Amino acid sequence: MKVFINKRIPEEGIQMLEEAGLKVVLPEEDNLQQEEWLKYCQSADMILNVGQNKYGKDFFGQCPNIKAIALYSVGFDHVDMDEANKRKIPVGNTPEVLSKATSDVAFLLMQTVARRASYYFEKVKSGNWGNFDPLHALGQELYGKTLGVFGLGRIGFEMAEKCKNAFNMSIIYHNRSRNAEAEKDLDAKYVSFDDLVEQSDVLSIHANFSDEEADLFDASVFRKMKPDAIFINTARGGFHHQKDLYNALVEKEIWGAGLDVTNPEPMEEDDPILGLSNVCVLPHIGSATIEARNGMARLAAANLIAFSQGEKMPHCANPEVYE
Ligand code: DGY
Repeated sequence: MKVFINKRIPEEGIQMLEEAGLKVVLPEEDNLQQEEWLKYCQSADMILNVGQNKYGKDFFGQCPNIKAIALYSVGFDHVDMDEANKRKIPVGNTPEVLSKATSDVAFLLMQTVARRASYYFEKVKSGNWGNFDPLHALGQELYGKTLGVFGLGRIGFEMAEKCKNAFNMSIIYHNRSRNAEAEKDLDAKYVSFDDLVEQSDVLSIHANFSDEEADLFDASVFRKMKPDAIFINTARGGFHHQKDLYNALVEKEIWGAGLDVTNPEPMEEDDPILGLSNVCVLPHIGSATIEARNGMARLAAANLIAFSQGEKMPHCANPEVYE
């Protein structure tokens, strides 16, 4: 069976596929145009997808030969799952292996914003070291403060654990379902969405995104947050309304924001949010460590190998296809 991989992944994933007897097709060019990408997909049996290519209804209609998709990501918001389910196409994803790396980035952004590191780094780069000043641009300490996690799954758990261990922060969370492990191990408290927004000193998003939550964090939400609150998004940019976030930052309704994901993504070069000193933006690098990316390659390959051997994918985002 033929596997199309749209962008080179760590070698061990490719090797695993080839050793399992699968034919791997990799384009010469990394960034394919939509039409070329579609042609490659049309001639494959399975896809190992890197990035945010959209797998909507049209796609499935245009590529009737596709039997399985392995995403090189934990998120699957770019796949129309109803359509995949209807066609009995399993969609694999890569949970766990990137939880540490992604929560590290959330933690990094939290501290960067709390200590105004982006502002100070810009100053140093522009030759403006400055003198010791007891009052200028002071940061805030996080000891004993409250972390609010929106979406306490594996990545949220890692973030909460780090915050508890490093700063003895109290953990509150809002989820679709209760997380018994977090309640037991981290003394995390389940709260309503409004309580999460109103009580968090740091509010960090770690949920799976779906269209129903588009722009959930908008002006009305930012207005309810504490004026010293830090907003962190390492999940999906679609969760926050970027203009409203900008306004909340300018109006000092919140302290600052750390974003590894933006809305839209990639963001516009001239987005005014980039001009703010209480913001740190990274270009979606949550899983960008050697360890996580190797792990993702192994899981994605294992998903396709299992499928090709008539077995269930070990990490399937739509296990209902097997019912
Ligand atoms: C993920 O794995 O979902 C990361 O955000 C990369 O897309």
